[in-house]
Amino acid sequence: MTDYNSLFSEDTHSFFRSPVRDIFKRVDLNAIYSFAGGYPSAETFPLDQFKATMGEVIDKYGGKAFQYGATQGVTELREVLSARYGVPLERIQITSSSQQGIDVCTRILADPGDVVLTSNPSYLGALQSFRSYRAEVAGVPYHPDADGFKAAYEAVIESLFAAGRKIKFLYVIPDFQNPSGETLSLKERKILVELARRYGFLIVEDAPYRELRYSGEPVPTIYSLAPDIVLHLGSFSKIFAPGFRLGWIFGHPDVLDKIYVCKQSLDLCPPVFDQYVAAEFMGSGRLDRNLRNSIDLYRGKRDLMLSLLERNMPAGVKWTRPEGGLFLFLTMPERFDSVAFYDTALDAGVAYVAGSFFHTDGTGRNTIRLNFSFMTPERIEKGIVLLAGLLRKSL
Ligand SMILES: Cc1ncc(COP(=O)(O)O)c(C=O)c1O
Repeated sequence: MTDYNSLFSEDTHSFFRSPVRDIFKRVDLNAIYSFAGGYPSAETFPLDQFKATMGEVIDKYGGKAFQYGATQGVTELREVLSARYGVPLERIQITSSSQQGIDVCTRILADPGDVVLTSNPSYLGALQSFRSYRAEVAGVPYHPDADGFKAAYEAVIESLFAAGRKIKFLYVIPDFQNPSGETLSLKERKILVELARRYGFLIVEDAPYRELRYSGEPVPTIYSLAPDIVLHLGSFSKIFAPGFRLGWIFGHPDVLDKIYVCKQSLDLCPPVFDQYVAAEFMGSGRLDRNLRNSIDLYRGKRDLMLSLLERNMPAGVKWTRPEGGLFLFLTMPERFDSVAFYDTALDAGVAYVAGSFFHTDGTGRNTIRLNFSFMTPERIEKGIVLLAGLLRKSL
């Protein structure tokens, strides 16, 4: 019998399974109250419009829509993105989703042992990618005031430099972070740019939730502050539909060129038919009309979640109040263990993601991430009442 393990590459030994995706394998999300995934609501997918747009694409492009396409993405989609975001064409690379954006950025920048700096907690899929290239992840705890924020980053960076470590990039989700829901202020974004320039690393700005804002004012992207040192990752997943698996990278042409060559060996080109559909949908204004409805829907769900938490959660539980995105983050008293509690919750029919899975150092066992986009308001209400009841008994 073949000993596969002796044949797997060194990199594979650093792969780790996503506990979040394992939850989806274990349970039927529609059969329980699921606050677990980052799934958009299926209500936000305008199926009739998708069908019509797909027909239009076939009429307009014929067989070209099903042929191989350019590695950097079809020109029509890059033009639509260029016009929408004011970024020149040569600075736009289409990706097969922003997860691929994270992966290619890591692949072109990080050698084994290099350091990727990120906030602690951070997005699990990114941590998986960094570790799969054997990069070391250094987490920086979030500080709500700008001085504390800067000091926390400086402390981690200085100690890494003192130890002779090479920081290649900072990975950050500045808008409605996954998992915390926090948004970085302009001052905090400028601090990150200043640190990147001072210490000579790049910033990968992951912004899949940026356009899902329900209250407050938009903050400029980090990319707009420093387009020479920032790679900005966008995604169609939350504003259109994740099944298309489409995203984009804005960045300096010299860096994009490396990504371009890297993507040739990854997938030759992003999905061509999907790109034409996205270009038509976005270019014709349908995406924006649909997005406005999604924002109204999610704003209602966020507000409902906040008021349900207020009314039902036992004393000692705190949570974030996100201005957008799909998640809020609960912090329990120190003694609570959300990993151990997970089976109790699942047996009772409610799922969440334990916050420690997003932590770079295994801390945060007293935290929980809750999604508010996926379920109907009725199910959100029943799920929160159920979860709060279970917590009341165990706290
Ligand atoms: C912060 C963050 N980045 C990237 C992704 C991946 O999104 P995509 O569907 O574009 O690959 C997610 C998905 O939830 C996310 O939360």
